[in-house]
Amino acid sequence: MKKIGIIGGSGLEDPDILQNAKDLEVITPYGEPTSPLVCGAIDGVEVMLISRHGRRHQFSPSEVNYRANIHALKDQGATHILATTACGSLKEKIHPGDFVILDQFIDFAKMRKNTFFDSFEHLDLSAHSPMADPFDKHLRDLLIQSGRELGLPIHETGTVVTIEGPRFSTRAESRMFQAWGADVINMSVATEAALANEAQVPYAAVAMSTDYDCWRDEEETVSWEAIMEVFHSNAEHVKQLLITAVSKI
Ligand code: ADE
Repeated sequence: MKKIGIIGGSGLEDPDILQNAKDLEVITPYGEPTSPLVCGAIDGVEVMLISRHGRRHQFSPSEVNYRANIHALKDQGATHILATTACGSLKEKIHPGDFVILDQFIDFAKMRKNTFFDSFEHLDLSAHSPMADPFDKHLRDLLIQSGRELGLPIHETGTVVTIEGPRFSTRAESRMFQAWGADVINMSVATEAALANEAQVPYAAVAMSTDYDCWRDEEETVSWEAIMEVFHSNAEHVKQLLITAVSKI
């Protein structure tokens, strides 16, 4: 039986995309997830939804309990996880409002719990998780197909660099990330993808570009208000993309 976990990022705090939605409060060995799990269905497929930053957007990227979120979804039987995130674009060709189906990450976050294996007391060789291809190929293909069917501006691959935040990058940092080969930048996905891989739950993330960060001289530098404006005017597209992808799983 398929059961899909969805982690909604900034701008998707409380998306009304599930039929027969009911809240489920859970607790995990890592503490509470960042929101109750909204359990319901899309097209007859069971779905559980967590709001990454809390329903009131009350958790900063460093405060998000990524471990509790992934553990709660796995514990409740998630066979797949789809995540959404706002991101800044580090490439001219990735315009605000475009979608990127991520295939690689660079983890530049510095001060958060990013592993389920933080004690080696009981030597467990699985603690060294392979991470070469952290985004599930099958889920990525479904997101790409769904995006094409919906006629959305979609980039089929992309490397995200995840920073600690909550501040945005300096111009020097932004240009360094470009030189490293990153395509987009955000504050959450690398941590979440790494944990989903450790938990062995197939995970994919769709990143919606909301700004050009600060590497372009001629562009206004990124602000939270600008991000939310782009996100809200495209939120319907993200919801349609999720609904279409879930019905294909
Ligand atoms: N999320 C959306 N835009 C961002 C940016 N420019 N930097 C980091 N995270 C972001």
